[in-house]
Amino acid sequence: MADLTSTFIGIKSPNPFWLASAPPTDKEYNVRRAFEAGWGGVVWKTLGAEGPPVVNVNGPRYGAIYGADRRLLGLNNIELITDRPLQTNLREIKAVKRDYPDRAMVVSLMVPCEEDAWKAILPVVEETGADGIELNFGCPHGMSERGMGAAVGQVPEYIEMVTRWCKQTTRMPVIVKLTPNITDVRKPAEAAKRGGADAVSLINTINSITSVNLDTMSPEPSIDGKGSHGGYCGPAVKPIAMSMVSEIARNPETHGLPISGIGGVTTWRDAAEFISLGCGNVQVCTAVMTYGFKIVSEMVSGLSDWMDEKGYSSVDEVVGRAIPNVTDWQYLNLNYVAKAKISQADCIKCGRCYAACEDTSHQAISMSEDRTFEVIDAECVACNLCVNVCPVEGCITMEPMATGETDPRTGKPVEPDYANWTTHPNNPGAVAAE
Ligand SMILES: Cc1cc2nc3c(=O)[nH]c(=O)nc-3n(C[C@H](O)[C@H](O)[C@H](O)COP(=O)(O)O)c2cc1C
Ligand code: SF4
Ligand code: SF4
Repeated sequence: MADLTSTFIGIKSPNPFWLASAPPTDKEYNVRRAFEAGWGGVVWKTLGAEGPPVVNVNGPRYGAIYGADRRLLGLNNIELITDRPLQTNLREIKAVKRDYPDRAMVVSLMVPCEEDAWKAILPVVEETGADGIELNFGCPHGMSERGMGAAVGQVPEYIEMVTRWCKQTTRMPVIVKLTPNITDVRKPAEAAKRGGADAVSLINTINSITSVNLDTMSPEPSIDGKGSHGGYCGPAVKPIAMSMVSEIARNPETHGLPISGIGGVTTWRDAAEFISLGCGNVQVCTAVMTYGFKIVSEMVSGLSDWMDEKGYSSVDEVVGRAIPNVTDWQYLNLNYVAKAKISQADCIKCGRCYAACEDTSHQAISMSEDRTFEVIDAECVACNLCVNVCPVEGCITMEPMATGETDPRTGKPVEPDYANWTTHPNNPGAVAAE
């Protein structure tokens, strides 16, 4: 059986599934139950500086986007960092770590962007026996207006400075949690590395308004008739998170910097995808808020079965496997030609592929009187839209054409060689092939 044990920046855990810093990790009761359910580690809900705790709203703090079956696709929140006293959290962290020494216990922190504030909190966290800290430079609401969270995460110089303060002060490994509310995620990751970070984690939540109540004209969640932007997470953000993760993994400046992948992880497959894009482990929030702690058992068995099937004996063997295949558009093979193919045996004759292709693509699907739908190869550009809109999975497939076959759309044979835009004759900046 595949070995799922994980050592991430020196922190050991029985599997690569950690809970992200959020309500599931806000107190001892939750974290003990999470560990009993099988989670490999947690990042404790973000702690603030000593003093009066932050104050949350007393009305709804979440909003959501649903699929047609009311499955939750995206979650929005306006919650702040922990609103429990620092000393209570520290006491609980120490007790849980003592009772679960084999699990990863990382503590998320957010204090004012001042050296004294960071240097004051690190020793008290260290005293709990925690395995590491995560610097929350991502919270996009409430705290950012006070000069913390995303307000720090959007300025690479601040990231570097605070990371350096922490590295100078603590023996604990430092993970820098990045905000996605930025144009180029490589810059904050580079800054974290310059500051001495042991790893980065991403993504924190994305600025969002999930809905507007058209009777009251207030964004939801509405607090006494007013709403504010919140942080978006859940399955809907996974593509954004994976793209950002891959950018950091590919960037020569940060290549090799350990990454903890966060954003919409719900199944073992999601986790495997993040890991293949360079993550040493993953963190989960929305999926447990939706389905409960027990989903980890399927994540563990699913990942392990898949690794056995593929012949991977450890998680480390999967880390970054897909990265060599992530490239920039100009390097894609323009000599690769495919055509859509409809399986008549699977087709339920709904006509969605026809509507999509006829109205918005290349008029490459014919519809007969008896509603038989067929691809017209001479028109099909292989855009994939019909595959994406077809309600029957696997009913439409994209079939690559063999070398030498004539593409009926262009009348040209499929070339055997790889050729991309950089050398294409239509490219004014093309580099002539030797
Ligand atoms: C209600 C809620 C509260 C959160 N609080 C924190 C927090 O205190 N600190 C933090 O770093 N991230 C916080 N997050 C962000 C999550 O840790 C995570 O980065 C984000 O939800 C994306 O992961 P997901 O798609 O699995 O939910 C919070 C998320 C939610 C939904
Ligand atoms: S792949 Fe695109 S062009 Fe071809 S049939 Fe489907 S929708 Fe039409
Ligand atoms: S969308 Fe799929 S199921 Fe519907 S007609 Fe087209 S091929 Fe058939």
